[in-house]
Amino acid sequence: MAPLLAKNIIQIIFLLFTIFSLSKAELHAHYYDQTCPQLEKIVSETVLEASNHDPKVPARILRMFFHDCFIRGCDASILLDSTATNQAEKDGPPNVSVRSFYVIDDVKAKLESACPHTVSCADIIAIAARDVVTMSGGPYWSVLKGRKDGMVSKASDTVNLPAPTLNVSQLIQSFAKRGLGVKDMVTLSGGHTLGFSHCSSFVARVHNFSLLHAVDPRMNKEFALGLRNKCPKPFNNGDAGQFLDSTASVFDNDYYKQLLAGKGVFSSDQSLVDDYRTRWIVEAFARDQSLFFKEFAASMLKLGNVRGSENGEVRLNCRIPNWRHKY
Ligand code: HEM
Repeated sequence: MAPLLAKNIIQIIFLLFTIFSLSKAELHAHYYDQTCPQLEKIVSETVLEASNHDPKVPARILRMFFHDCFIRGCDASILLDSTATNQAEKDGPPNVSVRSFYVIDDVKAKLESACPHTVSCADIIAIAARDVVTMSGGPYWSVLKGRKDGMVSKASDTVNLPAPTLNVSQLIQSFAKRGLGVKDMVTLSGGHTLGFSHCSSFVARVHNFSLLHAVDPRMNKEFALGLRNKCPKPFNNGDAGQFLDSTASVFDNDYYKQLLAGKGVFSSDQSLVDDYRTRWIVEAFARDQSLFFKEFAASMLKLGNVRGSENGEVRLNCRIPNWRHKY
C-alpha cells in the first residue's frame, strides 16, 4: 500500500509541475513565422522612419520597454490609456516623460492590416526596443515572442520603478525582484548611452547638495558646473536637461567611460562606480565595448522574459483592452 501511495504522490507532483510549466508558456524566436512573416520588417521600417523624423524616438522606445517590463511584466500595460475611472501607468509620475507611443500605434495599425489580431502589443515593444538599439549602432539579437497583452494598468504601480536617487543596494534589490542579477542591472543601466534627462531628475545633486557640499562630491567639478548652468535655480524651464552621455544618439560604451570620469547624470548611475559589487563591471564595459554589447543583448532577453499575467490577450488597439470595444 505504502509504495502505491508514494507512487501516486510522485505522479501528482509531476502533474503539478507540468501544469505550472505549461501555464508559463515559453517565448519563441519564430513564434509568428507562419502567422505574420512580415512582422519584423514592418516593425523595423516603421521605427526607422519615425526615428529619422524625430531623433528622440530611439531613446524613448528603449525606456518604454524597460518601464513596461518592470511593472506587471512585459505585457504592454504601459500602452493602455487612462479612463474616467482609472489612471493608467503611462500617467504615473515617472512615465509622464515616456513619449512616442504613436510609433507603436503606427506599427500596430500596419500589422492589423497585414495579419489581423495576431501580434501582441507587448511583442511589438520588445521588437521595437531591439530595433532602436541596433539602428543606433548597438548589438542585434533575436527577439523571443509570444507575450500576451495585459488588461490592467495602474498609475500607482509606477512607484515601483527605480528612482534616480537609489543607491546600489536598492538598485540590486529592485532588479532582483524581477529575476535580474547584479550584472544585468549594471548592463541594462547602459541603456543610458541613449537619450536625455530633464533637470528634475538630477538637480538636487548640483544645488545645496548637503551642509558640507554645494554639489555631489562624486561629480567631476566642471561637469557639475555645466549641469548647474543648464538647470539654474529658481528653476523655470521644464524642458531643460542633460544628455545621458557624450554620444547620446549613439549606442556605445561611452556611458561607462563617463561614469569613471565622475560624469554620471543620476546619483544611481554614479553609485555604480562606488560599490565593489558593480565597479568591476563598469570598468570592464568601459574597456571593452564588444563585451558590453554581448552582455546587453543577453540582459535584454532576460528583461523581455519578465512575465506578466498569463491571462492576457492580443489587443486590437494597443491603447484599449479588447472588452472595451464591445461598449
Ligand atoms: C537602473 C535604474 C534606472 C533608473 C533609476 C533610471 C532613471 C531614469 C531617469 C530618471 C531618466 C530621465 C527621465 C527624464 O527626466 O526625462 C531616464 C532616462 C532614460 N532611461 Fe533610465 N533608469 C534606469 C534604468 C534604465 C534601463 C534599464 C533602461 C533601458 C534598458 C533605461 C533607459 C533609459 C533611456 C533610454 C532614457 C532616456 C529617455 C529619453 O531620452 O527620452 N533606463 N532613466
